[in-house]
Order: sequence, then C-alpha cells, then structure tokens
Amino acid sequence: MSPQPQAAVGAPLTRVDGRLKVTGKATYAAEHDIEGVVHAVIVDSTIGRGRITGIDTRAALAQPGVIKVISHLNAPRLVYRGNPESIDPPGNKQLRIFQDDKVLFHGQPVAVVVATTLETAQHAASLVKVRYDATKSSTDMASAPAGEPVNYARGDADKAFASAAVRLDVTYQQPRAHHNAMEPHATIARWDGDKLTLWDKTQWPVGTQKDVAAQFGIPNDSVRIIAPFVGGGFGSAIRAWPHIATAAIAARETGRPVKLVLSRKQMYFGTGYRPAYEYRVRLGSDRRGRVSAMVQHLKSETSTYENFTEGVLHAGQMVYNAPNVRQDYRTVPLDVNTPVWMRGPGFATAAFAVESAMDELAHKLGIDPIELRLRNEPEEDPSNGLPFSTRRLRECLATGAREFGWSRRNPKPRSTRDGDWLIGTGMAIGIMDVPRMPAQARVRLDADGTALVEAATSDMGPGTYTSQAQVAADALGLTMRNVTFRLGDSTMPPTPPHGGSMTMAMVGSAVQDGCDTVRKQAIKLAVEDERSPLYGADAGNVVVRGGRLHVKDNPARGETYGQLLTRNNRTHLEVLGSYTPGETRFSMYSYSVTFAEVAVDARLGLVRVRRMLGVYDAGRIISPKLADSQALGGQVGGIGAALLEHTVTDHRDGRIVNADLANYMVPVNADIPDLRAIFLDGGDDRKADPIGVKGLGEVVHIGVAPAIANAVFHATGRRVRELPITVEALL
Ligand code: MOS
Repeated sequence: MSPQPQAAVGAPLTRVDGRLKVTGKATYAAEHDIEGVVHAVIVDSTIGRGRITGIDTRAALAQPGVIKVISHLNAPRLVYRGNPESIDPPGNKQLRIFQDDKVLFHGQPVAVVVATTLETAQHAASLVKVRYDATKSSTDMASAPAGEPVNYARGDADKAFASAAVRLDVTYQQPRAHHNAMEPHATIARWDGDKLTLWDKTQWPVGTQKDVAAQFGIPNDSVRIIAPFVGGGFGSAIRAWPHIATAAIAARETGRPVKLVLSRKQMYFGTGYRPAYEYRVRLGSDRRGRVSAMVQHLKSETSTYENFTEGVLHAGQMVYNAPNVRQDYRTVPLDVNTPVWMRGPGFATAAFAVESAMDELAHKLGIDPIELRLRNEPEEDPSNGLPFSTRRLRECLATGAREFGWSRRNPKPRSTRDGDWLIGTGMAIGIMDVPRMPAQARVRLDADGTALVEAATSDMGPGTYTSQAQVAADALGLTMRNVTFRLGDSTMPPTPPHGGSMTMAMVGSAVQDGCDTVRKQAIKLAVEDERSPLYGADAGNVVVRGGRLHVKDNPARGETYGQLLTRNNRTHLEVLGSYTPGETRFSMYSYSVTFAEVAVDARLGLVRVRRMLGVYDAGRIISPKLADSQALGGQVGGIGAALLEHTVTDHRDGRIVNADLANYMVPVNADIPDLRAIFLDGGDDRKADPIGVKGLGEVVHIGVAPAIANAVFHATGRRVRELPITVEALL
C-alpha cells in the first residue's frame, strides 16, 4: 500500500473543542441536565480512626426537602466481587462505603444526605450528628513502621559502594501532593430498572464501568458511563472513588437521579494523591565520574486497607549504566485514604532523588552535570539487557545545552548575581515508561464523505478529540472538517485508562488500524468496480486525498468516496480497528531533559524561575500545538512541585489542614516565566507501537522539579533535599 499523504498529522492545529470549552458549552460531569435530579452531600468523618457509635439524623430529616440520610445503619450491603481488570491495588480491599461502623481515616464518608436542592442537602449534612469512639490515628510516615520491601539488585552494590573512590549518601524528602484539577469530581447516577447510568468525571469510562458493576454485583453491561468532557485529571480520575458508589446507592435508595459533587475540600480525602516519599541514595563513583554503585532505600505512605505502589524504581535502575545497583522500596501503612497515580507517578518522584544526587555527585567531582550524564549513558537497558526501542538522550542533552546556552554557565555555585538576586541554572533528566494495553476504535465512513470515529477513552485536557481526528483524517484521506472523533462513553469500543501517557499511542494505533482498513476496503471496491475510473488499477498504488481516491502518480484518474459508495449502494463502510500489544524485546521509554534558570533573592530566599527549556524524545509528535501545550503544562506542574505544592496533615487527628486552593499553593501566572519546548525531529518509534508515538503527557513533567532544585543549588550553594523548596529552607 502506498503511504497516505500526511496533512493533518504534524500540523499545528487548534483543538476542535476549543470553542465549546471557552464558551461554556462543553458539558462536564455535574452539568448534564438530568430530569428530576436531586442532590447528595457526603458527611465526612471528623475523627482520624475509630468507630461510629451513633448517628442522629433527626434534625437533618426535619428539614423540608430532605429525602433521605444514608449511612452504614441503613445502606444496602454491596457485593464488592472484585474486578479482575481493575488497576486498583491488588486484593480488592477498596474502601467499602457505608458497610460497617469503622472509621479508617479523617474525612472518610460516614453518611450521605439526599435533598431536593443542593443548599438543603448541604445544610442538612451539617445537622447530622455522628458520635464516635475515637482512637489515636497514625499519619506520620516518619514514626510509623514500614512493611516488607520490594527488592531489586544487580551486581554487589554495597561492596562497590564501600570501595568507591567518591561516595555520596543523601536522603530526599517529598511531600504528599494533590492533583487539584479545575473540575471537581462529580457523578450523576440514575437507575432505569436494574440499569445504572453514571455521568461521571473519569479518565477511564470502561474501567469505572467495571469497577462499579463489581461493587454492585451486576453485569458490566448494566452500567453505562458517560464522560464527554473532563476538566483536568492528572491521575485522580483513574479510579472509581467511593463517592461514585455513594451516588449510585443514593439514587437506588431514593428512586431518583442523584447528583453528587465533591467539594474542593472533600477531594483531599475523597480521592487519591501523590504519596509522600523518603528516598535515600548512596552513589559511588570513580574520580572520572563513572558511577559504580547505586544503593537506594525508598519509603512511601499508603493506607491501612490498600497497599499502593507505583513505578518509582525504573529511573534508579536504568537511566545510568551503573554495574551495581540495589533498591528496596517499602510502604508505610497509615490511617489515611489510599494514594493514587499523579502525573508521572513514581517517575517524577524518582527523578527528584536520582537527578538531585547526580547533580550533587557532579559538584563533588568537579565535572559538568551534563558531562557526568554522558559518561554514564548506557548502550542498552542495564536493568534487563534489552535494546532500547529508541533512546535519544544524548541528542536531548546536546540540543538543550545549545539552545539553553549551557556553555556560558560558570560552574561555581553562587557565582552569578543580578542585583539582590542570585542566579543559577540546573538540568535534570526525566524518563517515563511506555506501558502498552489493548485498544479499539470504531470507524464509520459514510457515503457523504464524512467519517465518525469512536473510542471509549476520555479527554482530560490533552486534546484527544483533536489528535485522534488528525490520525483518522490522514489514514482515511479526509480533511479534518470531515472527520469527527467521539469519546467518553463506555458503550464505545474499549480503551486503556486515559493515563500513563497511553492514549495517543494505543488509541491512536487502533484508530489508524481501523481507518487503514476502511480505506483499503474502499480502494478494493473501486479497483474491482467496472464503473470506477480506478477499475483495474493496482490497489497498492491508490491513495486518498481530500476524500478522493486516485492513482498516486495520476491524480486525474480517480473518484470520491461518495461517488464510489453511492454507486455501489453502500450507505457506509464500518470497521472495528484495534491495537493489541505483542511481545516486545525492547526497553521502551520516553525521555526528557529540563533546563531551568532561577533567581533567588539573597536576603529573602524567594525563588523565581526565570526561564525553562524542555527537550523531548517522546517518539512521533502527532499534534505539535497540543504537544507544546502539554509540555508547558508539565513544566508549570513541575514549578508547583519544586516550589509550592505540599499537602499538610495535622498528625494529632489526621486532619488535612490546607485542604483548599487558598492554602494549598499551585503556580499562578505570576509564577510562570518563558517556557520553551523542543521535540526532537524524526522521532517515530515504530518499535513501540504502529504509529510511532511513545507518550508525552507525563515525561514533560518528570525531571522539572530536580532541574529547578539543581538551579537553586547553583544559585545559592544551598542544597535543599526536601520539596517544596521554601523560603525558610533558603534563609
Ligand atoms: Mo496519569 S497519573 O496516568 O493520569
């Protein structure tokens, strides 16, 4: 088959749903207009651990408009049969809503009030009196016992460390952080007989469908999830949190459609978060900077009821060519709700520890940080001996150094001043693996020359509506105007979670497969149709452009899809495209290098990021404008992680004290300088997947915080090993 001309892919297109979004016409979970809807408000536990000894609902029920108060005293028993395809931590031990009197963490839902208006439900919720038998909760990772470790080892890292010429032994602390997407988590639940429809904020419609079906013990196809728009997620909407089942219980018990929107505060304990970590690194090297040993001890928080772990070990195993590596990774069960993935889960955490430590080693050795990385660059994946599908870190480093002006840097810390400001630059590497899961997409080409492509993914903001349509447009040979991509409905063909940077690669591969098949069907129809100008042509030599099939080197010989299908009495062609990951013998990662310049007020300790540059080896870039937007967003998130974000717990009772956007700080416009993104050209990685995409949404965030921390060290000579880097730490 002749390759299709690429017109839409690679073009810097504006997102197709942009107008809907800026005019308020994009419908988010809580905005669906469902007839007869009533409102639910959750009552949160005010103790950190213990038992509920009584619930007095009389004052709440006395409010006009209150329909029902549901708690463990009157809730139906749910089945919780477990969902084998769930990405929950293993063991099906999710929080079981209203199933008993136990309180496992501060803020746990203990009751839900349903009323005809939101205001009535909110007021009545405040009138529910819950009595507790409280016991002391344990929420401080530093003082609680850790579980059994997950271990990794190659060579003899302890021995190599002991005999290394140069040694570093440092511990990094990273705080709990919350996703804080703009859109609150929200669900509208409606039962029609034994069928449940949920209009939900979710990053994974088919995942939520199966999770909820398992909770209620009903067939998967009795649950339908609708999520056409998601106002940011960053990982928080990948699991079916308890409020979803709560809304469904409330709807079933009241016989009404129920809308449940978590408050900003409730999202701090009603959904997951990036867990806090302690990460100790021991690095041994020779005097020329060849790393011989890396010993790493990791500790992170989890809940008492689920053991949450994530991909935090890869970076310390495979970014550098150290022959001797040992890691142990323990979780510390605490009286908290369960953590979850947050943008670059594990990988961003590991990058701060490993990339800060490499910077410290570079300084100790008097070797340029980029040069140190180059001296430890592996030829194959040192963790498993596999060849890389693609790994263009050297190019990222060289391009970044040139474009950022790294050669002008005076390596001496605290050597550059601009008035009161100490100026410093730093860099760090980011990696993100390429997880692979099956995906499907339905492609329908109509006789009017338009196409509809559908897949049950969500679009939390990267621009999936647009980028998938770009893939479809070129594979079908249509203009963007004539292609519609629809998503966000569990009745559509299944896809992986809209996370793990998988959507462009996996769903895109399925879309391309379906569109290629439809195009080939149409070409076959034409070359076998005596009435077609293409009759008898070599099918392998026919391309489609602007909806018109023609011989590649003779554009005059051809006809449109519309002419072909209409003449053949075909209303449409329809195909289910798919992507199925096969065995792989490659190590597959996206790579980034982030460069940061900071200014630190010498007297006040204020840190300002002055400029940043990210250089990315993320495989093929389908949609450059959206990719750029992703990269800048990832960098902004990295500024937050480096300098601002920190969920603070009061360990006396497990209460989160800054559970709002006034006290949990995120970057605002005034915090953001000039940001720049460069994507390496010609990055197609066809070993990773058929469309050559490795994934971008997370690697753009990973490594940003250590680049800033390394720049702060260069500016001030002060090494801050705890995020976020605060004024207090620099005074
Ligand atoms: Mo992402 S943390 O996989 O949404």
